[in-house]
Amino acid sequence: MSPLTEQYGHLVDFNKRSLLISACAIAFNPTFWNIVARREYRTKFITKAFGSAQAGCYALAITIFSLGLLRDFLYERALRDQPSHPLLEGEVPTYAGYALVALGNLFVISSTWQLGITGTFLGDYFGILMDDIVTGFPFNVTNAPMYYGSTMSFLGSALIYGKPAGILLTGVVLAVYLVAIQFENPFTAEIYAKRERERSKGGSKAKKAKGSKGGKKEL
Ligand SMILES: *[C@@H]1O[C@H](CO)[C@@H](O)[C@H](O)[C@H]1NC(C)=O
Repeated sequence: MSPLTEQYGHLVDFNKRSLLISACAIAFNPTFWNIVARREYRTKFITKAFGSAQAGCYALAITIFSLGLLRDFLYERALRDQPSHPLLEGEVPTYAGYALVALGNLFVISSTWQLGITGTFLGDYFGILMDDIVTGFPFNVTNAPMYYGSTMSFLGSALIYGKPAGILLTGVVLAVYLVAIQFENPFTAEIYAKRERERSKGGSKAKKAKGSKGGKKEL
């Protein structure tokens, strides 16, 4: 053991395969839904398979939600294999953890409530667009409440379990979501801009579009 691994070796056990599996599941989910959704946008392959955009979007929603449950399960399993740290085991980190999980869930649930199922789960790629930009809570606090709420829940669980490895995996979650936001937001904005162009082309009687609703999606 080098001095470095002696010092940090007890924080995170990198020899546990469950840690790598959890990190892979975290990275896989947004990668999966972005590839699938863009393919749907280009080819309508899910719409064709399910007979309607609505049914296709619900099928994708169930898939993404299930993958999210699997990812959460793998995260908890990874944490169980990891060492705790005394600094994270006191009452303060534990209560902070519960507060973060509660706030994170509030963000995720309230934004799902605001956007609806198709608005939350990539409906815009199916051609199911929101009529209006959503500005109420939690979108008045952050433009990506799903992603930041989910990140808060991961961090909160890490604190509740008292596991430094959970903080490391939360870093992976945040990094993956920040990349996803960079990748998704311009694309979604373009989908709404396109509708706007088509509406203004369609004449002055066209209802006024209000553009992209900003952040969304989780799981
Ligand atoms: C966001 O909206 C909620 C509910 O309408 C309100 O209570 C809250 O103060 C608002 N937050 C900000 C930062 O504007």
